[in-house]
Amino acid sequence: MRELWKPGTILGPVPAVMVSCGDFEKGEKNIITIAWTGTINSDPAMLYISVRPSRYSYEIIKRTGEFAVNLTTEALTFAADWCGVKSGRDYDKFGEMNLTAAKGYFSGCPIIEESPVSIECSVRDIIPLGSHHMFLGEILGVSVDSRYIDKNGRFCCEDTKPVCYSHGEYYGLGKYIGKFGYSVKKKK
Ligand SMILES: Cc1cc2nc3c(=O)[nH]c(=O)nc-3n(C[C@H](O)[C@H](O)[C@H](O)COP(=O)(O)O)c2cc1C
Repeated sequence: MRELWKPGTILGPVPAVMVSCGDFEKGEKNIITIAWTGTINSDPAMLYISVRPSRYSYEIIKRTGEFAVNLTTEALTFAADWCGVKSGRDYDKFGEMNLTAAKGYFSGCPIIEESPVSIECSVRDIIPLGSHHMFLGEILGVSVDSRYIDKNGRFCCEDTKPVCYSHGEYYGLGKYIGKFGYSVKKKK
């Protein structure tokens, strides 16, 4: 037996990222929490974020043509949730959450210093879909907190304690299961 549901945003778990936007030089900065995001191309490296036009961040990203996806961690989850229920129209989210707005390395928009990975993007296209508009972002560059890169150059993502969003709830990473291609690897 399976229950039949109407179309819905059931796909999950998904990341819940903190997207920073604004113009660093002018002191303009905001954060919007985004769950509708994902990688969409390898070369050029691209990702998308889907944003409701009513969001304060929508106009900022449209105007500046840039945004940064900052990965969230267990330590950042409270701030991610807060930035996802309060608007930059009413609050300085960096200030309220004690987060540091750092100058982007590849763009004019601020990144979140406390995030282990910031992915700076330039808006390639905006596709109106209905409730949300999809921003296609070309990745200009990625900055990674070097504390999470081991001596072999491996990014130890698990050490950042990443967080995912599953049907309205936040979870940490589960137990290790295998790595890419393990299903076809010959057993010794
Ligand atoms: C976990 C989580 C995920 C969210 N995902 C999205 C999303 O993908 N797109 C969107 O437009 N809003 C999303 N929101 C809501 C916005 O983050 C929220 O409306 C925020 O207050 C907008 O901030 P702003 O007005 O400063 O831009 C999400 C909120 C949370 C808590």
